[in-house]
Amino acid sequence: MYNSDKVIPGIIIFVLFVTLPIWWNHGKSVAAPEPELPKKGRCVESKEYMRSHHMQLLNVWRNEAIRQGMRIYTSSDGARFWISLQNGCMKCHNNKSKFCDRCHQFAAVEPYCWNCHIPPETKKFKAPKASGLLKLFGVPPVLHGSSQAESYGHAEH
Ligand code: HEC
Ligand code: HEC
Ligand code: HEC
Repeated sequence: MYNSDKVIPGIIIFVLFVTLPIWWNHGKSVAAPEPELPKKGRCVESKEYMRSHHMQLLNVWRNEAIRQGMRIYTSSDGARFWISLQNGCMKCHNNKSKFCDRCHQFAAVEPYCWNCHIPPETKKFKAPKASGLLKLFGVPPVLHGSSQAESYGHAEH
C-alpha cells in the first residue's frame, strides 16, 4: 500500500507548484484600457453594444455603403446617422490614437482599415494644383468637394 503520510503533502505541494503562476500574478493584472470618449452626445448604438459589436457594425456599414449604395443608418432606437468610417465614426471619435488604438493595443488587434482610410489626426493632404493642361480642358482637380481619398473610391470591398 502507499504511504499516505508522503503522498498527500506531495499532492498539496504539486498543486501549489502548478498554480504558482496564478498566485504570483495575483493583483498584478494589466490595467484596463481607457479610451477617450467624446465629452457629450451619443453613439450610433448603446455603449455596451458598440463595445462588443463595433467590428460587425463596421462590416455591415461598409457593405451597405459600397455594395448597396446605402448611406444612412437607422439605429435600433430610430436615430439616423451618416454611414462612413471617416466622416461618421471618426467625426465624433476624432482621435484614433486616444480612442481606437488604446483598446486595440490592449487587445493586440491591428485593424488594417488605416492602410487606406485616413485617421483624423493625420494632416489633411492638399489637393494638387491644377496643371495648365487640366485648366485648359476645364477638368477640376478635385471632384465635387469630396476629399481626395474618397474620389479614388470604388476599387475595394
Ligand atoms: C454622433 C457621435 C458618434 C458617432 C457617429 C459614433 N460614436 Fe461611438 N461613441 C460616441 C459616444 C458619445 C460614446 C460614449 C457613449 C456613452 O458613454 O454612453 C461612444 C462610444 C463608443 C464605443 C464604446 C467605448 C467604450 O469605452 O466602451 C465604441 C467602441 C464606439 N463608440 C465606436 C464607434 C464606431 C466604430 C463608430 C462608427 C461605426 C462610432 N462609434 C460612431 C459617439 C459617437
Ligand atoms: C472599448 C475598446 C475598443 C474601442 C474603443 C475600439 N475597439 Fe475596435 N476592437 C476592440 C476589440 C477588443 C477588438 C477585437 C475583437 C475580437 O477579436 O473579437 C476590436 C476589433 C476591431 C476590428 C476588427 C479587427 C479584426 O482584425 O478583426 C475593427 C475593424 C475595429 N475594432 C475598429 C475600430 C475602430 C475604427 C475604432 C475607433 C473608432 C475602434 N475599433 C475602437 C476594442 C475596441
Ligand atoms: C484597400 C483599401 C481599403 C481598406 C484596407 C479598407 N477600406 Fe474601407 N473603403 C475603401 C474605399 C476605396 C471605400 C470607398 C469610399 C467611397 O466610395 O466613399 C471604402 C469605404 C468604406 C466604408 C463606407 C464609406 C465611408 O465613407 O466610410 C466603410 C464603413 C469602410 N470602408 C470601412 C472599412 C473598415 C472598417 C476597414 C477595416 C476593417 C476598411 N474599410 C478597410 C478602401 C479600403
